[in-house]
Amino acid sequence: MIGYRCGNALPLGRVCRGLRVGGWAVAAVFEPPVGDAESLSGAALRLAEELVQATLPATDAVVRVAGLAPSGRPIASIAGVTPGPSVSVSHVRDLLGAAVSSDGQVGLDIVDPADAGRALDVFFSPDELALMPDDLGLLRALLWAAKEAAYKAAGIDTEFRPRRVTVESLSLNGFTWGVHDRHVEVHGAGRFATVGRHVVAIAVTAFAAGRGRLAAVGCGGCEEPITCS
Ligand SMILES: CC(C)(COP(=O)(O)OP(=O)(O)OC[C@H]1O[C@@H](n2cnc3c(N)ncnc32)[C@H](O)[C@@H]1OP(=O)(O)O)[C@@H](O)C(=O)NCCC(=O)NCCS
Repeated sequence: MIGYRCGNALPLGRVCRGLRVGGWAVAAVFEPPVGDAESLSGAALRLAEELVQATLPATDAVVRVAGLAPSGRPIASIAGVTPGPSVSVSHVRDLLGAAVSSDGQVGLDIVDPADAGRALDVFFSPDELALMPDDLGLLRALLWAAKEAAYKAAGIDTEFRPRRVTVESLSLNGFTWGVHDRHVEVHGAGRFATVGRHVVAIAVTAFAAGRGRLAAVGCGGCEEPITCS
């Protein structure tokens, strides 16, 4: 039994729809890796494909999710058409996760709090470390997961520079963030969840100008509760 919980506790192996992140709707799924025939990267992309497929109204369209060079940022296609909905994946040694959104650019990150110690402080500003008390010993896991999820949601293909991702507000439930890179400035919202002992961050921002909302994918309505099936 874990002694903490941030945001919702999400189950394994079920598609959770209706996760609200700021004004955006997200669906997500988590499962442990099975065997070692498949790499974690490959298994996470397959999980993302299954998630997109599960959120489509028509189930016979072929869904592909592939890493885009040079960074490996995943993109989805439906029946050969890109861009599909925005997708993000994360993998740690004992957990895979995927998230999809049809109305915003999504980023997902999974962190094992046991791996998020004070060595990470070099990547956090004094302002970030002061955003909330660390009574549960989760502050660094939350900040790190938020930064990685925000970087992924920003949809940039330059290298990950944690100090260029600012966590602007933080609670056990969610966060706001900004990414300040050489050519872009992106802001968005985020929420936390727990899956077993892992902290999960889901960040979302608006699609880039010119990219409309995709009506084809059902990530849930505007209102929670979350439904997992
Ligand atoms: C994004 C990153 C920090 C996440 O690392 P992590 O937390 O240890 O790993 P996670 O499992 O949570 O996430 C990895 C996934 O993020 C995705 N990802 C990678 N780059 C991304 C980007 N720019 N935007 C969105 N998602 C990205 C990929 O699907 C990746 O899966 P893979 O490792 O199987 O290819 C890391 O993948 C990274 O540094 N990527 C950039 C690579 C890079 O700098 N390339 C050279 C110059 S572009």
